[in-house]
Amino acid sequence: MTEAVVTINHLQKKFGKFQALKDVTLTVNAGEVFGFIGPNGAGKSTTIRTLLGILKKSGGEATIFGQDVWTDAVAIHKRLAYVPGDVYLWPNLSGGEVIDLFLKLNGQKHSPRTDELITKFKLDVTKKCRTYSKGNRQKVALIAAFSTAADLYIFDEPTSGLDPLMEEIFQQEVLALKDAGKSVLLSSHILSEVERMCDRIGIIRDGQIIETGSLADMRQLSRTQITVTTTQSAGALAALPAVHGFKQTDQHATFAVDSEALGEVMTALAPLGVKALQSTPPTLEDLFLRYYNQKEVGSNAQH
Ligand SMILES: Nc1ncnc2c1ncn2[C@@H]1O[C@H](COP(=O)(O)OP(=O)(O)OP(=O)(O)O)[C@@H](O)[C@H]1O
Ligand SMILES: [Mg+2]
Repeated sequence: MTEAVVTINHLQKKFGKFQALKDVTLTVNAGEVFGFIGPNGAGKSTTIRTLLGILKKSGGEATIFGQDVWTDAVAIHKRLAYVPGDVYLWPNLSGGEVIDLFLKLNGQKHSPRTDELITKFKLDVTKKCRTYSKGNRQKVALIAAFSTAADLYIFDEPTSGLDPLMEEIFQQEVLALKDAGKSVLLSSHILSEVERMCDRIGIIRDGQIIETGSLADMRQLSRTQITVTTTQSAGALAALPAVHGFKQTDQHATFAVDSEALGEVMTALAPLGVKALQSTPPTLEDLFLRYYNQKEVGSNAQH
């Protein structure tokens, strides 16, 4: 039985006349890392700020640990850690002082774990925050969040300023949270990060969730790229409805196949004398571009 930690049902948010969230429905289950992706301005941060009780919803429902995100915000925040993309710190305090302040505000204490994280993220905690680069400001917030004992961690583009080594540390820490059975909601534009860590993904566009599921589910709904060398012409495949973008030169053919029709296409290929075959599943980038670019996503992408 999976237990829902975050439940969002038909959430709406208006800023004056502008409807930033039209219909957001998603669930983050206990023990999973949920990736929240979508183009700039799609509504990811607005959804997260509503979950945190910073913004008041205009319609629908949102709960965390079964409690209402607005009326029960204080109780929820005792079990939650949050890192925004733009981290603002007190300019005259040192990084170390701010980490301890964040921990205190969350009812936590500086622990050996905090020191371990400071070493791992290579942060010079003696410097004043006003001297920190964007990446260093993010490190301050990440160290405080990772050394907080919480049940749910919410990250809104937490690594946009981190170098690749630090990005790797971030990923290791998130995977450690997952191993410890914690739940994570991660909004990110770094698709390799999402691909590596997330159990399920929700795609938002124009204030609406347009797809949720595991990456495997989404790949199933998309197309696999095939390159094949055959002794006989594969030209007849071009007529199959599941085959797209068919191109042939001599014995080599390349095309995309609706993933659910792969078996059918392999059956059609077999009698043609297959000498070599390469199949490439869609990357998250492919899915991303497909979902982001199209005004209407094709019928095979609907559940
Ligand atoms: N306080 C606000 N007042 C008015 N409009 C807002 C406000 N906050 C956000 N919006 C608008 O709501 C929409 C969603 O913004 P949001 O910040 O949630 O997008 P996002 O998905 O987080 O984008 P990004 O990937 O760039 O961070 C945008 O059109 C934005 O301009
Ligand atoms: Mg945002």
